[in-house]
Amino acid sequence: MYVSMKDMLWHAHKNQYAVMAINCVNMEQAKAIIQSAEEEKSAVILNISPRQMKAHGHGDILAPMIKGMAEKVSVPIAFNLDHGADLGDITKAIKYGFSSVMIDSSSYTFEENIRRTQLVASLAHSMGLSCEAELGHVGMANQADNEKRDLYTDPGQAKEFVEKTGCDCLAVAIGTAHGSYPQGFVPRLDFERLRLLKQTLKMPLVLHGGSGAGDENIKKAVACGINKINVCTDLFKHARKATAQALEKNPEIDYMDLCIAAQNAMKEFIKEYMRVIGSSGRYNFEGYKGVELD
Ligand code: 13P
Repeated sequence: MYVSMKDMLWHAHKNQYAVMAINCVNMEQAKAIIQSAEEEKSAVILNISPRQMKAHGHGDILAPMIKGMAEKVSVPIAFNLDHGADLGDITKAIKYGFSSVMIDSSSYTFEENIRRTQLVASLAHSMGLSCEAELGHVGMANQADNEKRDLYTDPGQAKEFVEKTGCDCLAVAIGTAHGSYPQGFVPRLDFERLRLLKQTLKMPLVLHGGSGAGDENIKKAVACGINKINVCTDLFKHARKATAQALEKNPEIDYMDLCIAAQNAMKEFIKEYMRVIGSSGRYNFEGYKGVELD
């Protein structure tokens, strides 16, 4: 079932679990993600950023492929533009057939972030898509951005931001970061702030930087109100490791078998993550319709 993120995230919000949003740049990843969701009876979101589309996974090719795969399974599947930077990215994603968009104007001033997000949210809603926004700023793990507390989301500002923009879910900065942390480093998350954000906003909240944060942090983040967790780095690492191992074992391996080895390793990782964040077995909820797109 190909749907926007809206209903699946509200169900997660009301029932205190989180849905994975996994970056996907090719067919093997799409198959791994959608098959995992079907086997785990879980909703899932496939994400792709403008940078990833430029580098490899063209959105105009991926969107119809993912939609076709999603329509063959019973679980809710969304395809979301990750970190859309401007109106150009958003209109392209809508044209390609994405079911959701994120507008990331978190590097702008508060007022400009509101202005840009409001515009994108109303455009997305008019086309039947959901809209994610970011307030505060989730930076890069290799620059220790997760420790810059002045970039964390302010609960008072967040209330005004959501009321003025009408975004469907909000990415918050509470101590995670994108990419790989230094060896052995486990981020310290600001759970008090997260609890306060949830109490104040009473809506689906998003955690970016879901790789390398550790199961305990992730479980606690879900318990404190996170409903969507973005994961890219760890998935790519699992695929790369499985590919290297398969090649080492048999340098003459058939290319398709090499792709399948990576796909199977990604599936194992995704299914385990879904169990940790509580989305496994949850799609079968009474009366779920989702927002079916044309
Ligand atoms: P990771 O790099 O931690 O996987 O985060 C991905 C992400 O948040 C994409 O938006």
